[in-house]
Amino acid sequence: MNTDAPIGIFDSGIGGLTVAGAIQALMPDEQLIYFGDTAHFPYGEKSPEAIRNYSLRISAFLLHKGCKAILIACNSASSVAYTQVKKYVGNKALVVNVIDPICQYAATHYHQTRIGVIGTRATIKSEVYIKRIKKLNPALEVPSMATPLLAPMIEEGFFNHTISQTVIHSYLSGKHFQNLSALILGCTHYPLIKKEIREYYKKEVEIIDSANIVAHHLHRKLAENKLLHSGNQKTAHRFFVSDYTRSFEKSSHLFFGSAIHLVEEKLFH
Ligand code: DGL
Repeated sequence: MNTDAPIGIFDSGIGGLTVAGAIQALMPDEQLIYFGDTAHFPYGEKSPEAIRNYSLRISAFLLHKGCKAILIACNSASSVAYTQVKKYVGNKALVVNVIDPICQYAATHYHQTRIGVIGTRATIKSEVYIKRIKKLNPALEVPSMATPLLAPMIEEGFFNHTISQTVIHSYLSGKHFQNLSALILGCTHYPLIKKEIREYYKKEVEIIDSANIVAHHLHRKLAENKLLHSGNQKTAHRFFVSDYTRSFEKSSHLFFGSAIHLVEEKLFH
């Protein structure tokens, strides 16, 4: 595999940009190809079969673009499609999901306590966080809750806003969700409301999000596989969406500046 080849990243919308931003900060020489499947947003409300189909189609597209690695920057797709994507990609590229590195982090940093998980309906229903964390550290309690309003709210640009504060408060004040040592943001959209969640908990609960942890994990995996960029002539990042949305364009500027050129790719037509 060519070390100068791009890293492919996908999500249903802007969520994966939180991880892409962290990857760019950690590995500025790498070229990124981002695919936001805005035509099918929100993945969290789709069936596992539908999410698998979308993920396989996008992986084929990223392979066609010559990616050396594919990062599934979406918890919903990581929950239900990782095995299928890995099998499909085979040895053509490295495949990384956003859930394993977080479970590893939580299970090694905490002992005999409660770690909450919030995510989309698809992610929470799969119980993948509970199963993986408990396998690594059975002494941890892992209460989890689907918070389906959050991703659409963020995708629409409602963060740092009174609406987001009200919705966050209403979800997190639930009875079975008290006395947590940490809260896992099990959706890549949620780092955009991390500050508000931290304020809700008055900084007494560690808020674990995927952006930096996953970026470091990917760096390790690329290094292990001798796939890190050699540092020559970086090529510009490329951004694709399956359906153009103004909010995607606006949010992509938050992470990558206004120079990005968004291309609509009708992958599913
Ligand atoms: N960013 C996606 C995730 O991490 C969720 C948003 C959606 O429902 O499409 O699960």
